[in-house]
Amino acid sequence: MDRIRIRGGRRLEGEIAVSGSKNAALPLMAAALLTEETLVLGNLPHLNDITTLANLLVQHGVEIHMNGHAAKGGHAGRVLEMTAARIVSSKAPYDLVRKMRASVLVLGPLLARVGQAEVSLPGGCAIGARPVDLHLKALEAMGAEIELADGYILARAPEGLHGAKVVFPTVSVGATENLMMAASLAKGRTTLVNAAREPEIVDLADCLTAMGAQIEGAGSDSITIEGVERLRGAEHWVVPDRIETGTYAMAAAITDGVIDLVHARADHLEAVIAVLGAAGVSIEETNRGLRVKRANGALRAVEVTTQPYPGFPTDLQAQMTALMSTAEGASTITETIFENRFMHVPELSRMGAEVTVDGNSAIIRGPCDLQGAPVMATDLRASVSLVLAGLAAEGETILNRVYHLDRGYERLEEKLAACGADIERIGD
Ligand code: UD1
Repeated sequence: MDRIRIRGGRRLEGEIAVSGSKNAALPLMAAALLTEETLVLGNLPHLNDITTLANLLVQHGVEIHMNGHAAKGGHAGRVLEMTAARIVSSKAPYDLVRKMRASVLVLGPLLARVGQAEVSLPGGCAIGARPVDLHLKALEAMGAEIELADGYILARAPEGLHGAKVVFPTVSVGATENLMMAASLAKGRTTLVNAAREPEIVDLADCLTAMGAQIEGAGSDSITIEGVERLRGAEHWVVPDRIETGTYAMAAAITDGVIDLVHARADHLEAVIAVLGAAGVSIEETNRGLRVKRANGALRAVEVTTQPYPGFPTDLQAQMTALMSTAEGASTITETIFENRFMHVPELSRMGAEVTVDGNSAIIRGPCDLQGAPVMATDLRASVSLVLAGLAAEGETILNRVYHLDRGYERLEEKLAACGADIERIGD
């Protein structure tokens, strides 16, 4: 199994091209199930999660062609042509779904298109219970009959789905996406109240609209979808990954370097830019993206609470914990989205970070001198926080279980090495 070796202590300087967003790409790919025409998606990142979903879609009957690398507006990235002329199976089997929780995004589209779906209950990152009850209750409100049996969600809508007013008790990105897709082909109007507002939701709405859907309010907490009889093919380019952007911004800050993040979008990162600014990191817009460096010397401690968008993203919490271990003073980082999302803390502590977890808060006392160590990744964002710590640490860090990283970061070691990091992938 691959590992990553980092010899820390180098300032990073150079540029990194931000890839297309993984979390935007996954629901967009699932949207291919909604039409018998071809959906072309560009600027897709080359990641294991994308391959996992592609494999799932293929077994539902979607024909997928890859156009290699194509460029549009300066965005490199993969282009996939997906055609779901006929759905040959409405079952999403355990073997594929267990690899990635976002596989549950096929539920809404399958139900809307063929009136039935059998989807294994998802597994995914080990960051808390992560149920799918919100998806299921909302689909029931639209007329679906749902049963859970033998680890599967069995959903049927023999009469088709109808519009409904859905009030989400908790903001859920995945449930909002599943419902937007299902409602696009339902009879009548659906209103989603307390909807997620993430840029990935807006990207999905833009693509569905290009496919002929009638959606208003995406990006606000109330989305209205007027169902249409059928959707058509379209061509859509995926937004840049704001989590990858934030991660590399922190790589610049933790190594006291200067990185140009090409294609990065400041408007998707306002909360992160504000927090990093308070910590002493300067993020400037350039005509190609963002330039990140320390404002003047040392980093300062900050208080951060994760929130649904437009708040500080939970997917950057572990990276922020690593960064704050090198800042002067005591930082508090509070996690409000997922339970059990401090699994990077014991590993960071082994590298010399002083972090105490108290309920859903981590208190980080800095600055500490990080020391390289063999460490083990437990989930996607936890593993990249250990990479950040390794870049700043003295000596060698070996990161095990790299497959977590490969789910969400495209060519991470190449991108960092191009900025001068001493980092390489090694076999056993
Ligand atoms: C998405 C992102 C993930 C990110 C998360 C929060 C993708 C592929 N993944 O995950 O990277 O960390 O948003 O920004 O886009 N919940 C329920 N019942 C449900 C659904 C969710 O209780 O049916 C809870 C979850 O346990 C969690 C909270 O709601 O506490 C938010 O989860 P949600 O927004 O649904 O996350 P995902 O869409 O799975």
